[in-house]
Amino acid sequence: MRLPREGRRRTHARTTRTAGLAALLALALAAPVTARATVSPPGGDETTTQYEIPGPSTPAARTVIAATGVSIDEVREHAVVVSADATEAKRLRTLGYKLKALPGPPSRTNGLKAKPFDFPPADSGYHTYAEMTAEIDQRIAQYPSIMSKRVIGKSYEGRDIVAIKISDNVTTDKDVPEVLLTFHQHAREHLTVEMALYLLREFGAGYGKDARITAMVNSREIWIVPDLNPDGGEYDIATGRYRSWRKNRQPSGSSLSVGTDLNRNWNYKWGCCGGSSGSKGTETYRGSAPESSPEVKVVADFARSRVINGKQQIKAGIDFHTYGELVMWPFGWTYNATAPGLTQDDHAAYAAVGAKMAASNGYTPEQSSDLYLTDGTIDDYLWGTQKIFDFTFEMYPGDSGAGGGFYPPDKVIDRETSRNRDAVLQLLENSDCMYRSIGKASRYCAGS
Ligand code: ARG
Ligand code: ZN
Repeated sequence: MRLPREGRRRTHARTTRTAGLAALLALALAAPVTARATVSPPGGDETTTQYEIPGPSTPAARTVIAATGVSIDEVREHAVVVSADATEAKRLRTLGYKLKALPGPPSRTNGLKAKPFDFPPADSGYHTYAEMTAEIDQRIAQYPSIMSKRVIGKSYEGRDIVAIKISDNVTTDKDVPEVLLTFHQHAREHLTVEMALYLLREFGAGYGKDARITAMVNSREIWIVPDLNPDGGEYDIATGRYRSWRKNRQPSGSSLSVGTDLNRNWNYKWGCCGGSSGSKGTETYRGSAPESSPEVKVVADFARSRVINGKQQIKAGIDFHTYGELVMWPFGWTYNATAPGLTQDDHAAYAAVGAKMAASNGYTPEQSSDLYLTDGTIDDYLWGTQKIFDFTFEMYPGDSGAGGGFYPPDKVIDRETSRNRDAVLQLLENSDCMYRSIGKASRYCAGS
């Protein structure tokens, strides 16, 4: 548990009580998972290994690898790093690829005994689901005039998925540009939850003190959905050792396989283009139908609920992932920069704001398909169906070398979350008219 110093004492009583309840809840929720793990169904709960594969150096070559169902975790100039289970690794070797196994996740035990349902002792700066919930509630209590929380739905295992609204006069629905920030679609990308908690702290503390923050809180409605995949996140830390889990925890129909890749399950060009897998149990399994995962359905319903008088109020957004240090924009389903529904001006505005954000955080700006094809992703969905300028950020580290891959040590949390402060503010500042960035405000944003 990690709170800024001034918040520690005030919340002690509440935190302790919540933690007790949360522990009981965690046990109740975890019981079936633990039981199932002992029978270890083939393909389902199998752990994955990261492999380095030399060779591929173009988006098309990487898409061939992704088509086996592995997740591509890292793109280098002439190699990729993938997560593959035993079946997928075999498939890749059969295709002639050379796989070099990389070391598994760090243990971070500090010589102490790992506790189940918690981060390892040396990573206690990260927040479990219960700790995240407690911190959110603390921020709402601390800043009630600008922050409110609503439960927008439940995960497969029944955990609350919440949205926090930040705006002045937070209880009224003002006619101002709205911005949607989403986090943690992928279970092992825990740093993204810390990014959400950082923003709550930063906006709360900065309101009335920092000019940019104050202006944005007064003139925008900011929606923060800090945890799209609470079941996956808890599963990833349930044994006290990181499991490199990516997907949600929904069984795939009657099969023994568990997990849908949430970022392949959105209802736009779902499964269209070889950018996801139709095989149950793979790392990029797209689910049985668009929005077949409750988590995606909940957040998609929430986005659709912001259509008021036929007009989508949400103008822009960022979906946070790790890792790679990238700022990406649609489309993922095609290599082309423009496509039906994405004009040259749309593309130019995306690229212009993307480049500005990348200049501030030092990430690399690019269209997402420069990596490899993806279909059914949130950014393609939000743009393709509702013209929301949604970006995908891949946070720290840039690569799996020194930075710890999906598991950077907790001591980098402050540095790597505050690193995106300016980028988030820039998105907010541009959100009223994204086309201003290409000098075409009068053409596209007149009267707004
Ligand atoms: N690495 C992330 C994933 O596999 C992001 C891929 C980029 N594509 C996109 N459309 N955002 O889901
Ligand atoms: Zn991800």
